Amino acid sequence: MNTTRILVWDIPTRVFHWLLAISFAGAYVTAESEAWRLVHVTLGYTFGGLILFRLLWGLVGTRHARFSDFAFGPRRVLAYLRSLLGRNPEHHVGHNPAGSWAIYAILLLGLGTALSGYALYNEIGGEAFEDVHEVVANLLLGIVVVHIAGVIVSSVLHRINLPRSMVTGYKTGEATQGIQRAHAGLGIALAGLVLAFWANAFGVREALVGAPIDTADTQSAMQEQDHDDDD
Ligand code: HEM
Repeated sequence: MNTTRILVWDIPTRVFHWLLAISFAGAYVTAESEAWRLVHVTLGYTFGGLILFRLLWGLVGTRHARFSDFAFGPRRVLAYLRSLLGRNPEHHVGHNPAGSWAIYAILLLGLGTALSGYALYNEIGGEAFEDVHEVVANLLLGIVVVHIAGVIVSSVLHRINLPRSMVTGYKTGEATQGIQRAHAGLGIALAGLVLAFWANAFGVREALVGAPIDTADTQSAMQEQDHDDDD
C-alpha cells in the first residue's frame, strides 16, 4: 500500500473543533458564577451556533466531515474495540467507529445543553430547565473526557498524533483517501463571525473606539443629514 501525506480535515471542521472546545471549557468553568454570567451565556450561544453549523456541514461538507462517512452501527463499534486488543488494530483515515459514537453524543448532548440554557436564560418554562441544563452539561463533560481519553489511546495504538492532525488537517494515507479542498474561505468566515460576536458581546469595539458604536454611527448619520439639508 502506497501511503503519503493527505488532507483529511478541512479548515471549517478544524475551526469548528477548536472553537467548540474553547467555548465548552469557558462556559463550563464560568457556569456557577453570577459575575461571569455574560461570558457563560456568550460562550453558550457560540457553542450552540457552532453545533448548528456542524450539523449542516455534516450534510454538505467534505468527505470525512460528512455524517455518511462515519455512520457506524453497534457491530462495527464492537469489532473496532475488539481489534484494539489485537495486534492489528483497525485503522480509519476519518473518524473511527468508537470515536464517531462519542462525536454523535457530543453533538446531541451539546444541542440539549445549548437549548436548555437558552430556555433558562430567557425564562421559558420557569425553573424546569435548571436541572435539565446542569444534568445534560455534566453528561456532556463525561463524554468529552471519554473523547479525549479515546483520542490519546488511538494516538498511541496507531502511532499517529491525532490532535496534531486536527490542527494541520493532515494524516498519512492512500492518495485516494484525501480531500481536494480545504475550504479556507468558509473556515475564515466562521472564525471571523465568532470573533466578531465575542467582540460585540464583550464590548471590545467600544473599548477600542472609546464610545459606543451606535452613538458614533448615529452622529455621523446626523451630520450627513445636516449636510444634505444645507445643500
Ligand atoms: C484537549 C482537548 C481535545 C483534544 C486533544 C481533541 C482532539 C480531537 C481529535 C484528534 C479529533 C479527531 C479524531 C479523529 O481523528 O477521528 C476530535 C474530534 C472531535 N472533537 Fe475533540 N478534542 C478535544 C476536546 C474536545 C472538546 C472539549 C469537545 C467538545 C466539547 C470536542 C469535540 C469534538 C468533536 C465534535 C469532534 C468531531 C470533529 C468533526 O468531525 O467535526 N473535542 N477531537
